[in-house]
Amino acid sequence: MRTLAIIKPDAVAARQVGKIIAHLEAEGFHIVDAQMVRLTQDRAEAFYEVHRERPFFRPLVTFMTSGPALALALERDNAVSHLREVIGATDPAQAKPGTIRRLYAQSKERNAIHASDSPENATREVAFFFPLYGLP
Ligand code: CMP
Repeated sequence: MRTLAIIKPDAVAARQVGKIIAHLEAEGFHIVDAQMVRLTQDRAEAFYEVHRERPFFRPLVTFMTSGPALALALERDNAVSHLREVIGATDPAQAKPGTIRRLYAQSKERNAIHASDSPENATREVAFFFPLYGLP
């Protein structure tokens, strides 16, 4: 089973990509594909379409377009739920010790990594960046 992660612009700028990938591999994820992306406003808005009406939508799009990010298609048993556990809560202050956000994120917004939150969204989000690998 596959899921999508995005190492966000804050973590790329802080040169934490290698440590985060090592953490993901140690958790048993295989990297199926990877791409450095600089999201345009249109692409970021489309990716986060479900959040369009939320108060954090504008700042989220501004942040996600602020610099390069790394999109990763990841494979493992129970990939979606396991990746959510490994990254920790949205707010790093609430994330469990040892999770990626607790280790590397600065705030709810600049939170180092994105992960798909359901199998349906994983299929959509993997296909968004990697059309060839979109089918489960
Ligand atoms: P992500 O997993 O990329 O999905 C939506 C993002 O919105 C989330 O991580 C956060 O970075 C960002 N965000 C900012 N503020 C909030 C908030 N109050 N609740 C949820 N997500 C938020």
